[in-house]
Parts: sequence; C-alpha cells; structure tokens
Amino acid sequence: MTPGTPDWYVLGAGAMGCLWAARIHQHSANTILLLRTDVQARAYETQGGLQLESHDTVSQIPVPAFAVSTCTTPITQLLVATKAQDAIAALDSVKHLLTPDARIVMLQNGLKVQRAVSAAFDSSRVWCLSTSDGAWLRSPFHVVEAGRGETWLGRLHHAQVDATLLQSLPAAAMGIRHDDNIENRLWRKLAANCAINALTALHDCRNGELLTRPEAHAELLVLVDEIATILNGLPDAPRIPNLHELVNSVLTATALNYSSTLQDVRRSRTTEIAHLNGYLCELAQAHDLDCTINQQILERFSALCKARGID
Ligand SMILES: NC(=O)c1ccc[n+]([C@@H]2O[C@H](COP(=O)([O-])OP(=O)(O)OC[C@H]3O[C@@H](n4cnc5c(N)ncnc54)[C@H](OP(=O)(O)O)[C@@H]3O)[C@@H](O)[C@H]2O)c1
Repeated sequence: MTPGTPDWYVLGAGAMGCLWAARIHQHSANTILLLRTDVQARAYETQGGLQLESHDTVSQIPVPAFAVSTCTTPITQLLVATKAQDAIAALDSVKHLLTPDARIVMLQNGLKVQRAVSAAFDSSRVWCLSTSDGAWLRSPFHVVEAGRGETWLGRLHHAQVDATLLQSLPAAAMGIRHDDNIENRLWRKLAANCAINALTALHDCRNGELLTRPEAHAELLVLVDEIATILNGLPDAPRIPNLHELVNSVLTATALNYSSTLQDVRRSRTTEIAHLNGYLCELAQAHDLDCTINQQILERFSALCKARGID
C-alpha cells in the first residue's frame, strides 16, 4: 500500500456504501467516502459525517467524504457500492486515480458487472462480495443496519485467499469470509433473485406471499423451472439441482421482507432487473436456450415500470 494514501475508498453513499464506509472506518480509521456530486459533498459536510444506526443506537462516524470530481489522491483499494446499473460509469469516473495494482471490490447484485470489471481489469485485482446483510437509509448519510446475514469475498477464476485484504476489512465485525468459488455463490444468488425479485414487484407482495398466494405461487413454480433449465444449458453456470428448495428457503427466511426490487418500484427508482432476469435472458439467447417465461416477466415488469414513470 502506498504510504500516506487512505486504506480504502468507498464509491457511492447509498445504504451499503454508508454501512461499509462506517464499518471500515471503525476498523482502520483511514477511509474516504466518494460522492457523486458537489451538492452531496456540501450536504455531507453540513451533517458532519455518517450516522450509523445499529441495535437502536445511533453513532456519528466522521468518515471524510469528497465529490468524485475533487478527488486527486491515488486509490489503492476501492469498494464500488453503487447499484449494478451504475457500477461501470462510477468506476470509470475514478479509473484515472487507480494505481496499477489497485484492488477493486464489487458488491453489486447479479454477475454481469463483476464479469465485465474482471475482464476489463486484471482479474486477480477484482474481488466480488456476496452479502445477505441488510441496510437502508433513514435519510441521506444516515444508515440503518437492518440485519446480519452472511458475507463472502472472492475473485472470479482465482481460488486463493488474500489475507492482507481480509485484514484491511472489518472481517470479524462484519463476519466476512473468503470463498474460493465466489462465482458459484453469485450464480445461486442470481438464480434466487431472478425467481423472486420481479415477481414480488409484479404481485406487489412480501417475499413470503409468493408461497401463499396461489396465483403468484403458480407463476413462481414455472419461472423456477425455466431458470433451472437455463442454468443446466449454460456451459459456465453451476448445476443447481435443488433450485426450488433454494428459492423456498430464501422465501421462508425472508417471508416478511419486501424485495429490493419492489422497494425500488414503490419509490419510483430504477431497478436492477436488467442485471437479473435481463442478464439471464441475454445469456440464454446467446446459447439458443428457451427463456420465454423470463421474457414475459421482463415485458410485464417493463410495463409496470413504464406505468410508474421508471426508466
Ligand atoms: N441495501 C441492502 O440491504 C443490500 C443488501 C445486499 C446487497 N445489496 C446490493 O448492494 C448494491 C448497492 O445497494 P444499495 O442498497 O446501497 O443501493 P443505493 O442505496 O441505491 O445506493 C447506491 C448509491 O450509489 C450512488 N451512485 C450511483 N452512481 C454513482 C456514481 N457514478 N458515483 C458515485 N456514486 C454513485 C447513488 O447515488 P445517487 O443517490 O446520487 O444516485 C447511491 O447513493 C446493490 O447492487 C444491491 O443489490 C444491497
């Protein structure tokens, strides 16, 4: 690591960016939060730092923050904390600051951006996080840690652990573990998200209701069948023989939750569906695999977004 440079830059000050910047700052105290605009940087200055709400306790965490456009120091470790559809543009905006050996950690849903970034950079430098931790913003820069799940870190096509990377992250505090086959984990999460997210938005229901509403459940079964068949036909996808069980267990464990996609639709925000069912359809079509059900879901979802004025 270059002496005098911050240990970590966190790009994007949404729920996950604020959570990770706060936790890394508590761990190493040498973290910078990178904001999209000058207006956000001024608002952040007025607020005097991040607020981290955990177990009903609110802590003020004075993580330094700058607008991307005013950052000039070299970046040796970058956590990209945007939504999937914004990740490439966000990374491009700081590319000139990355040192040749900089580590890049991606925490997006899906697999498309992780693959694109691993292909664009030396893949040994690109790390992927898969987390079932939950966080949401009560107000700008005030993050609520909503639930502790599992967090896994690994590289596509590289099995080895990097102890120095784990040491520089709050591995104990956030329960981060190395996964020597992170791609498999990302695939399983992608498959479950393709089954759950769009359907919950189309039925405007909690996750668990996909199991209890007869019409939604019938659609879920057909959709999961098609996702499993597509995965079986893709040469680089893992076999997930028990996809129905996997989806059922996610739905049961998160029965009362509203999916991130439904939350985005309700707030009229752009969703990550293009990186979930959209990406699965891209892969299926590239391999001449039938993806009719997923296409129908995408069409209905697109109509829902159009009706709500969402891009
Ligand atoms: N939240 C969770 O509980 C959770 C759990 C597991 C996984 N994830 C995944 O983590 C990722 C982030 O989710 P999130 O909930 O943190 O999303 P979010 O709250 O929407 O935050 C995304 C942030 O990225 C910022 N951003 C977008 N483009 C940028 C750019 N070019 N430069 C700098 N900042 C930029 C956005 O800024 P603006 O506000 O200016 O648009 C926003 O603050 C998603 O892929 C999500 O699926 C989230």
